[in-house]
Amino acid sequence: MKKLTGNINIGVFISGRGSNLKELIRYSKKNNTNWKIKLVISNKKEAKGLIYAKKNKIQNYAIEKKKPEFEKKSLSILKKNKINLLCLAGFMRILSNEFIKKCKFKIINIHPSLLPKYKGLNTHERAIKAGDKYAGSTVHYVTAKLDSGKKILQTKVKIFKADNPNTLAKRVLKAEHQIYPKAVDIVCKKII
Ligand code: GRF
Repeated sequence: MKKLTGNINIGVFISGRGSNLKELIRYSKKNNTNWKIKLVISNKKEAKGLIYAKKNKIQNYAIEKKKPEFEKKSLSILKKNKINLLCLAGFMRILSNEFIKKCKFKIINIHPSLLPKYKGLNTHERAIKAGDKYAGSTVHYVTAKLDSGKKILQTKVKIFKADNPNTLAKRVLKAEHQIYPKAVDIVCKKII
């Protein structure tokens, strides 16, 4: 990959709430990072995360299309805007192999489990049912295989006896907000 100088342009894909997106925006502004969120794309029009993007005057797009069309449009937007890194933040769609190959930049994702445990959905419920002592979250590179790319950062959260999937999810989410921006820092140091 070509080394860059100056600002690293980040694109973020979301599908909903966007609290991780919000945290990435907050962190990059507060710390005057060498990366900035240049644009946000959602596959859902009603995604709350789009509101943060608008408030922060970040280009934002809602592309409610089937996967092939979504990917085609998104890729063209990402290229046009010279995006250097794509962050998935609560993006509830599996990207196709072709899309991943066509992206000439890295893609990273945040997943609410201690990967390699609990790939896919309902991670908190599965961790509680299994009687695990810890849950957590992992930021990892995106590859064609779901939730399986190399780990960048991981954070552990204790599971208490009284926990249910909702209480645990809240605690894990707080921890996610801590690690995602730091993981972006790590990845961007490698890009520069
Ligand atoms: C997070 O728990 C993340 O790990 C998962 O989806 C959730 C997104 O939350 N991939 P938000 O939209 O960033 O608030």
